[in-house]
Amino acid sequence: MRRPVIAGNWKLNNNIEATKEFLLQLKDKIKDAEVDAVICPTYTSLSTAIELLKDTDVKVGAQNMHWTTSGAYTGEISGEMLKELGVEYVIIGHSERRQYFAETDETVNKKVLKALSLDLIPIVCVGESLEEREKGLQEDIVTNQVRLALEGVTKDQISKVIIAYEPIWAIGTGKTASSEQAEEVCKWIRETVEKLYTSQESEAIRIQYGGSVNKSNVKELMGMPNIDGALVGGASLKMDFVDLIKY
Ligand code: G3P
Repeated sequence: MRRPVIAGNWKLNNNIEATKEFLLQLKDKIKDAEVDAVICPTYTSLSTAIELLKDTDVKVGAQNMHWTTSGAYTGEISGEMLKELGVEYVIIGHSERRQYFAETDETVNKKVLKALSLDLIPIVCVGESLEEREKGLQEDIVTNQVRLALEGVTKDQISKVIIAYEPIWAIGTGKTASSEQAEEVCKWIRETVEKLYTSQESEAIRIQYGGSVNKSNVKELMGMPNIDGALVGGASLKMDFVDLIKY
């Protein structure tokens, strides 16, 4: 049985004060969650979140990292620096980073390898654009992104990876993929992992769906056989996140 993982991606929201206020409320409401719950705040709120959540089951993730340890990379943060803070998860290759910050399949792969080498759990985002879906290219796009992201990831490491299927057209639009659409792509992702490794690894890997997940649609999405969790944007900024964790 794969344990579901529900992660909140706060994107560029919530300063330190807002992080404190939110997490102080959240932490009393999420005792004994039956899923792995993760909050991914901005870099500046990471320590606050780690401190506030230290006696809870909620883990903290970053939204990005660089693949080198140190050097002339103005504005970047390394995986080692995240580890030093006590971060356990890291989102890699979110479509907003691919779209606005020149993230490529190659940089995603480098970051995945680096995260795994540091024992950080990578949440690797893949997903097609609306135009690609309208052309029927979603299977090729997504399976190719998965293959490239996992290049060099060993059989021993793969079960630590989480893949998040986030169709770009469903992010922040209120337009969720239907549970059948989400399931279809998550199944292709699992089959791709099976081709790259074996059925043992593909059965173990956790695949999330992300894109306008909210308290009304979470249960149905999580009921699909190949969906093992959600990567949540907007709804993770509200106390609705508690309903998502307890779906
Ligand atoms: O990473 C989560 C995300 O991109 C989905 O955002 O606001 O549609 O839940 P949202």
